[in-house]
Amino acid sequence: MTSMNNNINLVKKALVQNNEIFHAEEQERQRIASELHDNIGQRLSALKYGVESLIKQLALDAQAKDVCQEFVHQIRGCIDEVRRISTRLSPVELSDAGLIMGIRRFCADYEKIYNCRVFADLEADEDTVPERRKNTVFRVLQECMNNIAKHAKAGYVRVELRGGDRLTLRIVDDGVGFDVSRRVSGYGLFSMRRRVHMSGGLFHLQSQPLLGTSVCASWSQEAG
Ligand SMILES: Nc1ncnc2c1ncn2[C@@H]1O[C@H](COP(=O)(O)OP(=O)(O)OP(=O)(O)O)[C@@H](O)[C@H]1O
Ligand SMILES: [Mg+2]
Repeated sequence: MTSMNNNINLVKKALVQNNEIFHAEEQERQRIASELHDNIGQRLSALKYGVESLIKQLALDAQAKDVCQEFVHQIRGCIDEVRRISTRLSPVELSDAGLIMGIRRFCADYEKIYNCRVFADLEADEDTVPERRKNTVFRVLQECMNNIAKHAKAGYVRVELRGGDRLTLRIVDDGVGFDVSRRVSGYGLFSMRRRVHMSGGLFHLQSQPLLGTSVCASWSQEAG
């Protein structure tokens, strides 16, 4: 009995440590994302503005003007890239709007971009969800929805978030599905599963060719 208790305590300790590592990782991502956005992004915008002003003010010949326009084009590309990287590092929807509104906005944008119906059924009370959990939920949502856009050819996606004893995120699509027994080459599913397990949650994926895909991630209140 004592050795069983010891084992349970060891597992609990490992879970707490996992959670702490995970939290530190997320904080670092947020720091890098803001640094990129607020510092590099702003400087690049200033640079672009400067070159654009020069083009207007200087009497450049056609060739010099073309070169400068190309600089502006390159800087604009860098600005977009910085924005893309910082969004991937830390979901802006979440920090701007909170979990429920953030998911709603994400789903609404997704519908427009991918021309696919998304029904969001969100019933959780976000005040009871710890910040680090919100981040994990959002990341799972993003990867699932990316996978649906990339692979599923779905016409309809249902996104469900339920509170209560277990916080449960379920994403179901009516797309082409896949054979889960086959080895997959991507990193997304592996990383999503790892992310959920590291945060003390359960992850379950169900799919069959032609019968769509369903992903479920859930956490007990105690998972913290
Ligand atoms: N919703 C889905 N519908 C159909 N197939 C899917 C779906 N989700 C995943 N898959 C299949 O599972 C494979 C593995 O997905 P995973 O997210 O791990 O990798 P990926 O999306 O191919 O690449 P990555 O996520 O690393 O950019 C996909 O290549 C695809 O065949
Ligand atoms: Mg993927």
